[in-house]
Amino acid sequence: MKLEGQVAIVTGAGRNIGERIAEVLAGEGARIAVVDLDRARAQQAARNLADAGREAEAFVADVSDNDAVRSLVAAVVERFGRIDILVNNVAISDNRHVLEITEQEWDDTIRVTLKSPFLMAKHVAHHMVDNGIAGKIVNIGSTSGYRGRGSACAYSAAKGGVANLTRSLAFQLAPHGIRVNSVSPNRTGSPVGIQEVDPDRYFKNLVNRAGVPDDTAQVVAFLCTEGASFICGENIFADGGVMAMEAS
Ligand SMILES: NC(=O)c1ccc[n+]([C@@H]2O[C@H](COP(=O)([O-])OP(=O)(O)OC[C@H]3O[C@@H](n4cnc5c(N)ncnc54)[C@H](O)[C@@H]3O)[C@@H](O)[C@H]2O)c1
Repeated sequence: MKLEGQVAIVTGAGRNIGERIAEVLAGEGARIAVVDLDRARAQQAARNLADAGREAEAFVADVSDNDAVRSLVAAVVERFGRIDILVNNVAISDNRHVLEITEQEWDDTIRVTLKSPFLMAKHVAHHMVDNGIAGKIVNIGSTSGYRGRGSACAYSAAKGGVANLTRSLAFQLAPHGIRVNSVSPNRTGSPVGIQEVDPDRYFKNLVNRAGVPDDTAQVVAFLCTEGASFICGENIFADGGVMAMEAS
């Protein structure tokens, strides 16, 4: 196991991609702080990990709120003693055209999708730096952050922000031995904000199958291992080759 004894916070780990990231990191021996705004989801995901013989604890927090993030980080350190890995997975989508979106929808999407990885990284990095921990931070981006979208005006802007936040965090935290990278999925499992996977969800990629949460989770886990020690400030697309294709 490559992450034996390390402590990982995974935000939005109550379902879908975040839940699978938590499972894969736990499978590599990490102890998991399962963070979600939805108490029932967080508790169920943590219970599933415990039933599988992993060490996990549910934490309920709104990761877009500064005070909540400060308390969350303190609670995780209190429970596990340290933090080695942070996976910023939480996002919401507006699914709105610029002619339709309200100011409130814009603000909410930017706050949850872009501000939350900033807040989490800031508070967790303080803990890592203060304790000399050569930690790893992985942000979950999206192909939407690298291309224009016909819908989801605020979400695509926020994910573009996550792409460059990743680079700046990597630049600023590298002197402290902390590596920051991102993984960007495309059409994976169910759409953002939705629980159920639609077996007919449209996809077009080079691999010719729909993306599943494990596709993203395996790359996140790799980025947290020593095998990725020379990868810093990078984004890896877990997109079945979508970004390599001609737009259609
Ligand atoms: N699903 C896709 O097709 C897809 C494609 C590209 C990128 N992504 C990215 O992958 C990540 C996960 O997507 P998903 O589809 O699994 O999401 P999801 O909506 O299924 O799950 C997100 C979880 O985050 C929680 N959450 C939402 N706001 C929160 C907050 N403020 N504080 C704490 N928890 C909060 C929700 O309760 C939910 O359990 C996101 O960053 C998303 O942008 C997903």
